[in-house]
Amino acid sequence: MNEMELMMHLHLNNNRQGPGDENATKLALQLAQIDTTQPFRVADIGCGTGAQTVTLAKLLKGEIIAVDIFDTFLQKMKERIYRQNLQANISMLAASMDDLPFQKEEFDIIWSEGAVYNIGFRKGITYWKNFLKKGGILAVSELSWITNSRPKPLEDFWLNEYPEISTASEKIKVLEDAGYKVLGHFILPENCWTENYYIPLLKSHDNFIRKFGHISLAHKIVETDRQEMEFYSKYKEYYSYGFYIARKI
Ligand SMILES: C[S@@+](CC[C@H](N)C(=O)[O-])C[C@H]1O[C@@H](n2cnc3c(N)ncnc32)[C@H](O)[C@@H]1O
Repeated sequence: MNEMELMMHLHLNNNRQGPGDENATKLALQLAQIDTTQPFRVADIGCGTGAQTVTLAKLLKGEIIAVDIFDTFLQKMKERIYRQNLQANISMLAASMDDLPFQKEEFDIIWSEGAVYNIGFRKGITYWKNFLKKGGILAVSELSWITNSRPKPLEDFWLNEYPEISTASEKIKVLEDAGYKVLGHFILPENCWTENYYIPLLKSHDNFIRKFGHISLAHKIVETDRQEMEFYSKYKEYYSYGFYIARKI
């Protein structure tokens, strides 16, 4: 089993697979300035087990196509949406976010929480724009610096892990250069990282090691999570996820 598959198992039973919050999804939707009485065609890319998909399905009319590379996440989402009777509005697609079988200008809204880093922000927002109608909405959350300067060890760590990390103003410039008009952005608050992500993740470590402890990579993943959590608690004044909401011009 490779690292991605092990991580999929570790995250499978958690509500979210990355930092976020129902209130953040709702705020992003408000900033999108759309008429929620109208039906929309939405793609939720890198949906995981669907925390934000469920919120969107409750607030929007129309159809949501939830996309993730792991069918196992989508099956978990299926259980969730059947429990909440939301199956009529959501369909699922196992596909890679950089190779999508969509038509040109098919969607009114493209949503992606904590996932575009898998192919990189610039590449993702530029590629996905092909599938948005003119005037369509892109809402994407992305790792961002939240101050203009920061301690060197922190900067070195993130530049090594994710070289595209930058400030909100730089992310906005990337969006503008790619042909979007930015409607708003905000920074995810601490509870999105702690109570909604790291604390449940920490709780799932024991079960994960019981199941996969015979694989040395599993221990490495758990150790890396712990280090990342400590890192966050030490340096949370300097980075978070930014949520960017933009309209295709
Ligand atoms: C950090 S999780 C975020 C999940 C969810 N949006 C949330 O906020 O809870 C990133 C998601 O991207 C998915 N992913 C990773 N690489 C992908 C790819 N190439 N194409 C589609 N999904 C991918 C992962 O399986 C995972 O579900």
